[in-house]
Amino acid sequence: ESPAGQVQTQPTATYESAFLKACRREPVPHTPVWFMRQAGRSLPEYRKVREGIPMLESCTRPELVTEITLQPVRRHGVDAAIYFSDIVVPLKAIGVDLDIRPGVGPVVAHPIRTRADLAQLRDLTPEDVSYVTEAIGLLTRELGSTPLIGFAGAPFTLASYLVEGGPSRTYENAKAMMYGDPELWADLLDRLAEITSAFLKVQIEAGASAVQLFDSWAGALAPVDYRRSVLPASAKVLDAVAGYGVPRIHFGVGTGELLRLMGEAGADVVGVDWRVPLDEAARRVGPGKALQGNLDSTVLFASREAVEAKTREVLDSAAGLEGHIFNLGHGVMPSTDPDALTRLVEYVHTQTAR
Ligand code: CP3
Repeated sequence: ESPAGQVQTQPTATYESAFLKACRREPVPHTPVWFMRQAGRSLPEYRKVREGIPMLESCTRPELVTEITLQPVRRHGVDAAIYFSDIVVPLKAIGVDLDIRPGVGPVVAHPIRTRADLAQLRDLTPEDVSYVTEAIGLLTRELGSTPLIGFAGAPFTLASYLVEGGPSRTYENAKAMMYGDPELWADLLDRLAEITSAFLKVQIEAGASAVQLFDSWAGALAPVDYRRSVLPASAKVLDAVAGYGVPRIHFGVGTGELLRLMGEAGADVVGVDWRVPLDEAARRVGPGKALQGNLDSTVLFASREAVEAKTREVLDSAAGLEGHIFNLGHGVMPSTDPDALTRLVEYVHTQTAR
């Protein structure tokens, strides 16, 4: 058993990869690197294979998912792949009427506002997402010792889309339900926790080596509300997959005030955005967890010298951590120069080689 209490369920070469060692807070040959949204519009080879295929349709084609997931691994030499999908895929799979609009994001036809609207959310079975099982089978064969990260949206972030009906800056309808009808809110988040747990189990059973729970928009919440109205549902998800022995990463944007609670929800690795230096994040999270992050994605638009200087700052702030996985503070922006990402991987690897 590793210090994190995890047992080996992966092929040995994968289990011994720098990424999974860092998640377990074991010594690493170099700091592992991957990027949120590493697959996607920053890559010309992605734009080419996606031509004429709507986002949600592309997620149901195992060969295409495999190709898109592998593209950033081939090009950048990152230490982990992330399964190409979207947080709304399991909702679409159970029949929720939604779409992803380019330049907008997920849009829901019939927002959930009343108890009757909850009927849209039935349980997810592995058969609903058989393309995920198939794609992960193809991927684990192609990836060799490179770990595959599965992921899902956390109940709050999914609820924010379902209740608002689309992207929002204020989450006024979601928060109105949370404050005004706490019982309906709790039942909604519990339903979403069931669906999310089932979706993560499918990915792990198919061969994912780690999972990331994206609570991207949790930073909109005060700690007291996060603890009372959101943490129980996220903890239910993280507990549901605890027994597999694969590391669980928990990430959100603007969550400086929530870092300890997000760790307490059950994560092995806490993702940190660019606003909190990693040494300070480690004090907030407390011992026993690895950290992931946290170069500001927009730094990649600056000169090579500036990228290196800002990367050095991240590595210096991570020097005393028990486990560090290098990442951006949020996703790769679509107009990022892919060569800047390749150089960044190389820079982190050489700077941290031991
Ligand atoms: O490489 C990877 O990181 C895996 C791919 C991935 C996508 N979505 C593909 C995608 C992941 C991990 C996600 C998760 C996701 N989706 C989150 C959580 C992560 C985060 O960024 O905080 C959220 C909030 C969503 C919802 C969503 N889906 C948004 C906001 C958008 C962007 C809309 C736009 O056009 O700007 C999407 C669409 C989406 N998901 C795209 C991709 C590659 C773009 C669609 C396209 O390429 O046509």
